Amino acid sequence: MVRRIQPEPFRIKMVEPVSIPDKAQREEALKRGHFNLFGLRSEDVYIDLLTDSGTGAMSKQQWAALMRGDEAYAGATSFYALKEAVKDILGFDYVIPCHQGRAAENVTFGALVKPGDRIPFNMPFDTTRAHIFNVGAEPVDCVIDEAYDPAKYHPFKGNVDIAKLEKAIQAYGVERIPLIMVTITNNSGGGQPVSLANLREVRKVADKYGIPLFLDAARMAENAYFIKTREEACKDMSVAEILKACMDCADAITVSAKKDPLVNIGGLVCTRTEDLYYKILPRVILFEGFATYGGLAGRDLECLAQGLREMVQEDYLSHRIAQVAYLGDLLDEAGVPFVKPTGGHAIFIDAAAFLPHIPQKYYPADVLGVEVYREGAVRGIGLGALAFATEDEATGEIVYPKLELFRLAINRRTYTNSHMEYVAETIINVYKRRDSIRYGLKVDFAPAAKGLHHFLAHLSPVSL
Ligand code: F0G
Repeated sequence: MVRRIQPEPFRIKMVEPVSIPDKAQREEALKRGHFNLFGLRSEDVYIDLLTDSGTGAMSKQQWAALMRGDEAYAGATSFYALKEAVKDILGFDYVIPCHQGRAAENVTFGALVKPGDRIPFNMPFDTTRAHIFNVGAEPVDCVIDEAYDPAKYHPFKGNVDIAKLEKAIQAYGVERIPLIMVTITNNSGGGQPVSLANLREVRKVADKYGIPLFLDAARMAENAYFIKTREEACKDMSVAEILKACMDCADAITVSAKKDPLVNIGGLVCTRTEDLYYKILPRVILFEGFATYGGLAGRDLECLAQGLREMVQEDYLSHRIAQVAYLGDLLDEAGVPFVKPTGGHAIFIDAAAFLPHIPQKYYPADVLGVEVYREGAVRGIGLGALAFATEDEATGEIVYPKLELFRLAINRRTYTNSHMEYVAETIINVYKRRDSIRYGLKVDFAPAAKGLHHFLAHLSPVSL
């Protein structure tokens, strides 16, 4: 017998009961939440794949580390444990803790970016994009074209197109580009990895123009695992070695520690030089907390130090990536269209292909989200027009994103392979009745907040 699933490399010590709300409860929850899945309560949901952020399970070593937390305001031993873990695993000398990834972005962009600047990216995530807008600047997407074709296989669909990057630098000028940033893995484009060779190419461009290179490294360990399994030149390196080699390309990183570093809250900015560190640090004290805790409790710092060491364990990573791929295989067998190959942390269903009869202005990704919840109390998230459409300031025209995706993010060490089967069954049931889904969603209310309204929008169905 060929084993299709990789068994979990952990056993369960504590359980969190979950149950499936009945159909009437689900309808009620949808109404109460204004048809926005962010509006649901946790108990309305059976399998919650809204995000892989802060939703993972900690290990027994992390729970033990929690007790070592030193809550000193300045100079806590827990900070030095974190600093040591960062140096060992990532190689950076300067470490700034923050309460989460967007806090790391806030202090970094606020310190380094000015209005009118442009930041070349492969692709920023939604909150990152919003933070760039917030300081009056704009990101420039330079990801390879393959990233926009969900059905096309490419081993490193998160790669930066070097020609696009050079063109952006020449078009806007070095003085308007305070930094280049690469998201690993590329969340908005399907959790797709960036190769080490590509990072080194980007590094060369950064050196050529004297622009610092930052990585948004939330999913850096998953990225390194993909490099090990897909990049020929790296196949004999350990994931830990590959990760270090990736980090060596960067001047600094911002990290949401709620993803790969396996904690429920936390973030980091790590820099190579003291100069960059001191440019960013004053804003941390202003917005987060003193330099050695940055908005976190000492116990959070300890858990994060331990999580950084665990995230590069290869049996853990191998199971994790295989679990996402298993869900992908089940969906693929049923013909459900999604971004290929499967990403590191999530399946990104191609909502435009799943519901081709629903125009993008009626938010097909979010309609799919409602239907998947309705079907099986599974929660995902729409990453399409509702999240990413922008208004052209000159013409007032709505510019729709090229991708209309519905994401199922897999929490780390939380759900079993049997949960994945339930999720697949739910999606496949919706797929079978897709032609009968004859409605769209409209926005009844959304606060004025560029790039953020999808979190808070009140929606309602409109029949088509
Ligand atoms: N960068 C990336 C690539 C992310 O995916 C996220 C968050 C952030 C930065 C911000 O970090 O949430 O700790 O403030 N992504 C989550 C998601 C929310 O669902 O993908 P944060």
